[in-house]
Amino acid sequence: MSAVLPVLASRLSTAVADAFGAQYGGLDPELRAATKPEFGHFQTNLALRLAKSLGQPPRAIAEQLVAALDLGDLCEPPSIAGPGFVNLTLLPAVLAAGVNEPERFPSSGKRVVVDYSQPNVAKQMHVGHLRSTVIGDALCNVLRYVGDEVIRQNHVGDWGTQFGMLVEQVLFEGLVVESLDIAGLQLLYQRGRKHFDADSNFADRSRARVVLLQSGDPLTLEIWRQMVEVSLIEFDRIYAKLGSPLTRADVVGESAYNDQLPGIVADLAAAGLLTESGGAQCAFLPGFTGRDGSALPVIVQKSDGGFGYSATDLAAVRHRVADLHADRIIYVVDHRQGLHFQQIFALCRAAGWLPETTPAEHVAFGTVLGKDGKPFKTRDGDTVRLASLLDGAVSRARALLDERDAPMSEASRAEVAEAVGVGAIKYADLSNDRINDYVFDLDRMVAMTGNTGPYLQYAHARLTRILAKADETPGIVTVLEEPAEQRLALLLGGFGDSVVQVAETLQPHRLCTYLYEVASALSAFYETCPVLTSAGDVRTSRIALCAATRRVLQDGLGLLGIAAPDAM
Ligand code: ARG
Repeated sequence: MSAVLPVLASRLSTAVADAFGAQYGGLDPELRAATKPEFGHFQTNLALRLAKSLGQPPRAIAEQLVAALDLGDLCEPPSIAGPGFVNLTLLPAVLAAGVNEPERFPSSGKRVVVDYSQPNVAKQMHVGHLRSTVIGDALCNVLRYVGDEVIRQNHVGDWGTQFGMLVEQVLFEGLVVESLDIAGLQLLYQRGRKHFDADSNFADRSRARVVLLQSGDPLTLEIWRQMVEVSLIEFDRIYAKLGSPLTRADVVGESAYNDQLPGIVADLAAAGLLTESGGAQCAFLPGFTGRDGSALPVIVQKSDGGFGYSATDLAAVRHRVADLHADRIIYVVDHRQGLHFQQIFALCRAAGWLPETTPAEHVAFGTVLGKDGKPFKTRDGDTVRLASLLDGAVSRARALLDERDAPMSEASRAEVAEAVGVGAIKYADLSNDRINDYVFDLDRMVAMTGNTGPYLQYAHARLTRILAKADETPGIVTVLEEPAEQRLALLLGGFGDSVVQVAETLQPHRLCTYLYEVASALSAFYETCPVLTSAGDVRTSRIALCAATRRVLQDGLGLLGIAAPDAM
């Protein structure tokens, strides 16, 4: 079955046009889920909104609307409530079809490029990169599900002036980079910084080293390449731990655009978009001004001839449109880079690299906070390493399993702890509206009650157990008489709609809210609708409903990048 909601909406529009004239047919019926079972399944306030223009009491409008409405194949006869709400109740057969025939999405023919994760070479990944990776993975899954072709681009920070300093420090210390790990690189970075600030001679050599790097000096490039390699090994380890599908093949770092940067400057200059300012090549775009009203530039080329972060992003947009043939470009990056992306998109449009018909969106997210409400830091004030965060969550999940003495082998206990710990962190991140900051509270994240990952995983595991006990291959849903089973079926039929919503709004928390509603409706169903102890058609139908619920939880968690273990 294709989604029933759009069908209801279009029938309502037709009825409005028939009853009151075509000029009202375009009005959005704004169908909402009914707030109480006695209001049926959906409600529209169309009659109330039409009252003013039609100059009639809303209830009279509702009556004419219902008379013109042709929904006999989908709904019980509509009822009118309160001041003029029209309530719709789906027929049990329609509810059942929504469960038995899940919506499938054909290819959209659209190609979406998603820029996400983007850790920096020679630095540990931190909670900000966690957010980008987790949100980015979920969005890629969701877009693929609704039929888009997705191209992942991990825009790793592997280029820029700091590498001059790093290479110079390596040479100064006579280090073998390949013997270091990421922690060692980060310490090297700190020593290099200090050295740079204290010794102007070293600072000059570092600047000269950047030029050598950008012009392809073999020794410099080799040391840089080793630093990239050490870092990528670490990133791969974290992606594996996170269960992220990102691989080396998705890495297109800042360095990849180096050869194109002079051309970017030349093209912008030819288009009359550059102005020299203090020796730097800048683009000043209308509408971008600072607090004091002064024009804000995009610095395309610095006064020393070097290229920075902006130049690389300009080249990346051009590449994604011209070579990757993107129909939509998405950047999952923390909200503080909002102005940067607005400027990049505007400049790319002005330069003709980004057609008006190709949307470019900054999918911004807020900051992870500690319990003190300040950006999440370790006790020594360092940024929190992602690796230690994940390890902490897994051992907490493991302790909870041990406490409950979960009946399973040692090997599966370790595996389940992994799934629950990592899933808890991911779910906590995704279930908040991404633009908001959130407090990192491990106890709440791993709790088995409330809107948490483990709560949904547990609902799934419990269904798996029931279905195993049922000892029959689930068939289809045929009987839907109890309000609790109707409500569950109604929600299950809305899975496709909720995924489409995420694809459109790029807000994964909507899917979390939906799955939490499903799990809550499932608990209500257990309370009033016995499954294994019922008989005949009712038993068969309820087993099928359980199987469908399990599938929705599994698919939904899967889209969020969260594993659904069979036992917990
Ligand atoms: N590496 C940057 C950081 O850690 C984020 C890069 C975002 N992507 C981009 N195309 N600029 O802050």
